Amino acid sequence: MSSLRRPVLAANWKMHKGPGATRSYVREFRRRYEPRSDRTVVFFPPAISIPAFRDEAGDRDDLELGVQDVHQEREGAHTGAVSAPMAADAGVGWGLAGHSERRREFGDGDELVAEKLRRLVEEGLRPVLCVGETLEERRDRRLEQVLARQVEAGLAGLEPERRARVLYAYEPVWAIGTGETAEPEDAESAHSFIRSVVRRVVPGDDGDAPILYGGSVKPHNAEALLATPEVGGVLVGSASLEPESFAAICRAADRSG
Ligand code: PGA
Repeated sequence: MSSLRRPVLAANWKMHKGPGATRSYVREFRRRYEPRSDRTVVFFPPAISIPAFRDEAGDRDDLELGVQDVHQEREGAHTGAVSAPMAADAGVGWGLAGHSERRREFGDGDELVAEKLRRLVEEGLRPVLCVGETLEERRDRRLEQVLARQVEAGLAGLEPERRARVLYAYEPVWAIGTGETAEPEDAESAHSFIRSVVRRVVPGDDGDAPILYGGSVKPHNAEALLATPEVGGVLVGSASLEPESFAAICRAADRSG
């Protein structure tokens, strides 16, 4: 199985868990989830908790780390911001760009998302470009228009030959934190559409770039989502905050594929 063909199980903790809570989580998670070479497990803790995570994970290098957001510049007078080089220095291998909460709460528009994505790639981090429609856009039948725009605009700052490094997360905004999950068929058709856009704008794309699904993924629905052919993994928010719940989601990849 090529590394990109492995399911990716990603935990986005958002603004939860400082260093102390991170340590107890990792201690517990290590006990509940054994390393598995057939899948990739990656955590996006708050930046301030990354060193504690790494320290507590110790020899568990199967537990990979990502940063939830980076500034588009490498360094400078940007109070409160975290840069991609700092994240890389802290041992992080992944980064999110374009999460809908960043787009909505912090005004990260398509152009800024593209700059951040480019910065992640330049610093050698693996970027996950998050895209997804609001309920209103879905009702107005603008799903495809929105997804195409977000993918194309997100990649616009990257030279075509570097675009193959990008992973995607389809996160319908109406499903995030609401308990509403897209049906596997809806995820399947949105993912297929994203795939068609990626094929068009990423030269030589051989269909390998995983597209994760995110939005109210829970232990009880993870298996069906992960068994959906176009779903290459899951990006999990609230259900990743409890070690057992996220361990169960990671194990759900056993029965998929
Ligand atoms: P949720 O969040 O699982 O709590 O819906 C998902 C996300 O925002 O990545």
